[in-house]
Amino acid sequence: IQRSEMLMLFRLSVYILLFFISFSEAVISCLNEDGQPVDWFIIYKLPIYKMEVKGSGVDYMYLDPSVMDFQMSKHTVNSSKGALGRTLTQLYSRYTSNGSVYMLYNDAPPELKYPSKYGHTKGVLMFDHSQGFWLTHSVPHFPPFPERNYSYPSTGKYYGQTLLCITYNYTQFPQICEHMQFLLYRICLI
Ligand SMILES: *[C@@H]1O[C@H](CO)[C@@H](O)[C@H](O)[C@H]1NC(C)=O
Ligand SMILES: *[C@@H]1O[C@H](CO)[C@@H](O)[C@H](O)[C@H]1NC(C)=O
Ligand SMILES: *[C@@H]1O[C@H](CO)[C@@H](O)[C@H](O)[C@H]1NC(C)=O
Ligand SMILES: *[C@@H]1O[C@H](CO)[C@@H](O)[C@H](O)[C@H]1NC(C)=O
Repeated sequence: IQRSEMLMLFRLSVYILLFFISFSEAVISCLNEDGQPVDWFIIYKLPIYKMEVKGSGVDYMYLDPSVMDFQMSKHTVNSSKGALGRTLTQLYSRYTSNGSVYMLYNDAPPELKYPSKYGHTKGVLMFDHSQGFWLTHSVPHFPPFPERNYSYPSTGKYYGQTLLCITYNYTQFPQICEHMQFLLYRICLI
């Protein structure tokens, strides 16, 4: 584990402590296409070309426990109105809150180069003291830093991409953190 990662783990511990002494807002969760809490969802962002036909590069298919099969979404992945945008808006609107902790990791963070020494792994974790979500995904340079608003990078439009969001009880948070140590992840910010 590198020094920066040790530092991050230390900070994470501090934030965990803060959980117990701070007031928390509404629970954090994966949110569906209507902004309602959901146990999990999967997004398959379609590639820009379907056979030889060029599409938008931002259309996606959506699946959660309430639908039987993947559905074409009426939203686009770069809109803050879809499940992904709504879920991550919790980060953009609450990242300064004392009552929650978040972590972004991506071997290709926004605005930085793409070195090969990190685990090829990307995700977002956000929890308060009762629960939170863990989003794992394949999109380089995503999502934007918390000080920015939600957006989707143009570099993520050409190829297909997948995103999996799962809502976890806080009791599972330490196990997720332990798992993180084996990923050789590249922390974007905490
Ligand atoms: C999303 O991307 C499409 C295609 O690049 C673009 O036409 C549209 O304006 C974008 N919408 C937002 C909200 O950024
Ligand atoms: C977080 O806690 C610190 C120390 O108690 C306090 O100074 C600060 O105003 C709090 N920030 C927010 C956003 O509540
Ligand atoms: C984010 O969006 C809000 C609402 O549209 C706006 O008030 C704010 O200035 C934006 N922040 C940034 C960093 O672009
Ligand atoms: C989380 O799990 C604990 C222990 O099983 C349980 O007491 C608590 O109600 C759960 N919290 C939520 C938000 O489901």
